[in-house]
Amino acid sequence: MKISFAEGRPTGAYALALPVWSDDMLNDRLQSLAEPSRTLAARAAEAQRFEREPGSIAETFVQDGDQVRRLLLVGLGAARDESAPLERAGGALAARLLTSGESRLVIDLTGADLPADAAARLAYGASVRGWRYDRYRTKLGKKQQPTLKEVVVVGGGEGASAAWEGRSALLAGLSFTRELVTEPANILYPESFVERCRTRLEPLGIEFEVLDEKQMAELGMGALLGVAQGSVRPPRLLAMRWNGAADPKAKPIVFIGKGITFDTGGISIKPAQGMEAMKWDMGGAGAVAGAMAALAGRKAKANVVGVCALAENMPDGNAQRPGDVVTSLSGQTIEVINTDAEGRLVLCDAMTWAQRRYRPEILIDLATLTGAMIISLGHEYGGMFSNDDGLAGKLHGASEASGDKLWRMPLGDPYDKLIESPIADMKNVGPREGGSITAAVFLQRFVDSGVKWAHLDIAGMVWSEKATPFYDKGATGFGVALLDRFVADNVEG
Ligand code: BES
Ligand code: ZN
Ligand code: ZN
Repeated sequence: MKISFAEGRPTGAYALALPVWSDDMLNDRLQSLAEPSRTLAARAAEAQRFEREPGSIAETFVQDGDQVRRLLLVGLGAARDESAPLERAGGALAARLLTSGESRLVIDLTGADLPADAAARLAYGASVRGWRYDRYRTKLGKKQQPTLKEVVVVGGGEGASAAWEGRSALLAGLSFTRELVTEPANILYPESFVERCRTRLEPLGIEFEVLDEKQMAELGMGALLGVAQGSVRPPRLLAMRWNGAADPKAKPIVFIGKGITFDTGGISIKPAQGMEAMKWDMGGAGAVAGAMAALAGRKAKANVVGVCALAENMPDGNAQRPGDVVTSLSGQTIEVINTDAEGRLVLCDAMTWAQRRYRPEILIDLATLTGAMIISLGHEYGGMFSNDDGLAGKLHGASEASGDKLWRMPLGDPYDKLIESPIADMKNVGPREGGSITAAVFLQRFVDSGVKWAHLDIAGMVWSEKATPFYDKGATGFGVALLDRFVADNVEG
C-alpha cells in the first residue's frame, strides 16, 4: 500500500473517508460537500444506523465537484484518549475497500479534532489490514483481486510524515513476520528461514551469526538436536544482532523465538485433523525476526539480539523416541516423555547459549508452546510467565499500548515438582492439567540466576480463523508491535 500525506485533497478519482467521533456534529464533518450531497450523506448515515462505534462505516455515493464519489463515514467512538480507535478505523476502511474496485482512498482529517499522530495511525491501520500474501494464488478471480493501492491522508498536519516513519518500520517488521508465518513448511524450513532473514535484515544493518548442526553438536546442544534428528532438514540456531545504543558495548536485551518450521509431533504424532496449522509453529521465531526488522528499520537506540531456535519435528527411523534421555547444553538431562513437547527442548538450548554468549539482564522468549494455553486464554491474550514483577509490569504496559494483549500466569515450586523424572533431571512434560505452566517451569530451569526472564506462550495468537480490523484470516503478526514498544519504552532513551 502506497501511503502519502497532503495538505489538500488530490484531483481525480478516489473514495473519500471522513472519520467521525461520537460527539462530532455530522454537519461540521460534511462541510466540504455541497447540497444536496451533504443531506444525502447525513441521511445515508442515519439510514444505515451509523452510531460511530470504532471502525463502523456508513457508505454512500455523492456528487463531489465533477466526480461521483464513494463516501465513507468511519466511526472513532468516544474514547479520544485511547490508541486503538484510529488504527481500527484505518483498518476498517482498508478491509471495506480492499477488493471494492477503488484503487485510491483519501482520508480527510480537515477540521476534525484529532491528536497529532492521527494521520500516521490511520495510515498504519489501513496498511496493516491491507496486507495480503497472494504468492501462491495463480487463479484469483478478478473480483477477488485487491484493487486498493494507495492511501492519502489529508489535513494531518506537519508532523504526519515524521510520525509515519517509525510506524512504517513497524509495518515492515509486522509484514515480514506474517509472511514467515504464512509460508508453508516445504518452502520455509530452518535453512531457508535463515536465508530469508538474511536477505531482509542484513541490509538494515543487522549482524548475523548462524550455528549449523555440526557446531551445535560440538557445543553439546543435545536437546535441540534430539528434536531435529528425525528430519532431513537440518536445524539452525540463528542470532541476529542490532547494535543501536549509544554504547555499543552495553549488554543487549535478548529475545528468543521457538522456530519449529513444522511440528508433526514426531513419534508422538499428532492427529491428522488440522495438522497443517503446525506450519506456524515458528510464530515465536517469526515475531522475533519481524521485531528485529522493525527495530533496525527505525534505528532503535538499543542493543538487541534476536535468537531463533529452528528445527523441524518429524517422525522417522532416526527420530527420537519417547523415553529417550538427552543432555542439554546446560548439562541438565531430560527424559523425553512426549516428542510433541519439542518447543521447550529447542528453547532450553537456545536460552543457555544466548545467556552464555551475551550475558543479558533481560531475556524474553516467545513460543507457540502449548495447546493448553489456548484452552486457558482462547485467542484474546497471550500467556505471560515471568520471574520478575518489574519485567512483567513493563511487558504488560507494552502489551496495553501495542494491542498485543498479555495475561500473566503463575510459576512456582508445586508446578516444578510435576516435571521430576525417575531417570533424569527432569521430564519434558507434566500432567495434562496446567500444561502451559509446567512448560514454563521447564524453561525456568534454564534461566541463569539474576536474569530477568519472561516467557510468552503465544499459541493462540499467531494465527486467526477470523478477520478483524487489524488482520485478515491467517497470520496476525502478534508480538512484533509488543516487542517494538517494549524496547521503545524501556530500553531506549
Ligand atoms: N506446537 C504445539 C503447541 C500448539 C498446539 C500450538 C496447538 C498451537 C496450537 C506444541 O509443540 C505441542 O505439541 N505441545 C503439546 C504439549 C504436550 C505434549 C505436553 C500440546 O500442547 O499438546
Ligand atoms: Zn509439539
Ligand atoms: Zn510445537
